[in-house]
Amino acid sequence: MAAASSRSLALLLAAHCALLLALAGAGGSPLSSTFYDASCPSAHDVVRRVIQNARVSDPRIPASLIRLHFHDCFVNGCDGSLLLDDDLPAIQTEKSVPANAKSARGFPVVDDIKAALENACPGVVSCADILALAAEISVELAGGPRWSVLLGRRDGTTTNVQSAKNLPSPFDPLTKLQEKFRNFNLDDTDLVALQGAHTFGKVQCQFTRENCTAGQTAGALENLDQTTPNLFDNKYYGNLVQGRAQLPSDQVMLSDPTAAASTAPIVHRFAGNQQDFFRNFAASMIKMGNISPLTGNDGEIRKNCRRVNGKGY
Ligand code: HEM
Ligand SMILES: *[C@@H]1O[C@H](CO)[C@@H](O)[C@H](O)[C@H]1NC(C)=O
Repeated sequence: MAAASSRSLALLLAAHCALLLALAGAGGSPLSSTFYDASCPSAHDVVRRVIQNARVSDPRIPASLIRLHFHDCFVNGCDGSLLLDDDLPAIQTEKSVPANAKSARGFPVVDDIKAALENACPGVVSCADILALAAEISVELAGGPRWSVLLGRRDGTTTNVQSAKNLPSPFDPLTKLQEKFRNFNLDDTDLVALQGAHTFGKVQCQFTRENCTAGQTAGALENLDQTTPNLFDNKYYGNLVQGRAQLPSDQVMLSDPTAAASTAPIVHRFAGNQQDFFRNFAASMIKMGNISPLTGNDGEIRKNCRRVNGKGY
């Protein structure tokens, strides 16, 4: 009797483990919020301190940093590929494609974060995880939601310029934006929630719906959210409802002929309920951060976010 029950217990445990493994394989995240608890317990504080310092002289830094995480994750997964500089012929940087050139910024702050982390815990925290942590801290510092950042990504050793050229464009129609998000299992709710990051930061007038009609130069900067430019809140959706979004790719979530049956109801929901937006934004950021991470022994922990290791630097 005792032998039989301990055997069935063993079977039960084995079945349970198999189930957990199956879940991990079927889209469960291999990342963990406690990944650096033993190896670099100060990681979060170090990243936060460097960003706090940087935003004193450059208030736009939080917005710029979260955008880097997005442009990293949408190309080759969240592997820090965006941070690599040109090192031809092996490495052709993603920083020169249209979505990034004279636009993606904050790289020196990432360097400062990496240097501070190499000082605190050498060789431990990946550049890909720095971007994920920086994204959450940036939102929190601007008054937005907090979430528990999943960690354990490793850094890639290649770039993908072709894929970077395919990053979402401000002039993409809604169906194209939906397709580009669906490629990463991000649905309409994720698309609407994540575009809510345009609640802070700047845009060059050449990308806005007004396209510099006041006679500014193409690179003249305007606020993405003209209501509360530096706050992470749901006013972005209020702007959309009033037809006052900056980017064509923002406004299409309401104005596209197909939007009424897809994105528009979500825009209205978030415009009317900031908590609803915050909850969904946090969930979508975790989903985006889970795009094809390198884990285990794949990739490496870069010493310098701009270069792969072992190149004699
Ligand atoms: C739907 C696809 C998206 C398109 C087409 C798009 C497009 C753009 C464009 C054109 C700019 C202005 C760049 C410039 O003028 O130099 C911008 C800025 C920005 N984007 Fe997006 N974006 C998208 C999604 C996202 C997502 C998913 C996030 C983050 C979760 C994000 C966060 C930001 C932030 C914070 C800025 C301001 C950056 C700064 O001030 O440095 N965007 N985006
Ligand atoms: C914005 O205006 C410039 C100058 O008139 C023009 O060359 C460009 O094509 C316009 N951009 C868009 C997206 O219409």
